[in-house]
Amino acid sequence: MTAIASPVPGKIRILGLSGSLRRQSFNTALLLAAQSLGGDGIEIDRVTLHGIPLYDGDFEQEFGIPKSVEDLKARIMACDALLIATPEYNNSMPGVLKNAIDWLSRPPGDASRIFNNRPLAVIGASPSGFGTVLSQNAWLPVFRTLGCRQWAGDRLMVARADRIFDESGEMTDPKVREQLGEFVKGFANFVRASPVSAHA
Ligand code: FNR
Repeated sequence: MTAIASPVPGKIRILGLSGSLRRQSFNTALLLAAQSLGGDGIEIDRVTLHGIPLYDGDFEQEFGIPKSVEDLKARIMACDALLIATPEYNNSMPGVLKNAIDWLSRPPGDASRIFNNRPLAVIGASPSGFGTVLSQNAWLPVFRTLGCRQWAGDRLMVARADRIFDESGEMTDPKVREQLGEFVKGFANFVRASPVSAHA
């Protein structure tokens, strides 16, 4: 198996990847809240998928991997773990995010460097009453195929998201803030207890 070096010993660095391009995205706002709730020893960077083109095999053959995808790969490699905030579209994952994951898995020889053994958790927010449960389920076989170590310790599905965030995107619901804080700490403990290098 491919070793993934932990970039910052002692500190857990998590890359929060939002699967929505929307300026007022609940999922991007969810990661914003997560950034402030982890506490000491946890650092969360945030990234969106603006600038990632649609996957095109002809383009790849002719020009290789786009710079925006290579840049995202570098951001992932600089972190210990991935925290994905996924919207739910039509009871499944959004195409924008699946497209980015597909690009990140190219070329096949590089996929293991990015994903294999990478600790990963999926969260999501939706205005519906189910909070992205079907989207989160849909991601399971994808990240299993890519060899990620998905955290199964907890689930966070933020339902009725329009009542959880204010107009500026700040999470105002104290109960969900607490749940998110516990989730982030639990995920960081999972990463800490099972460092990526131990699975090489
Ligand atoms: C949605 N939405 C949605 N919500 C949900 O809970 N289950 C679903 O199946 C769907 N399906 C769906 C399809 C399409 C094409 C769109 C555009 C939207 C609503 C969705 O949860 C809502 O737009 C969120 O606000 C999207 O996430 P962001 O952009 O706020 O992060």
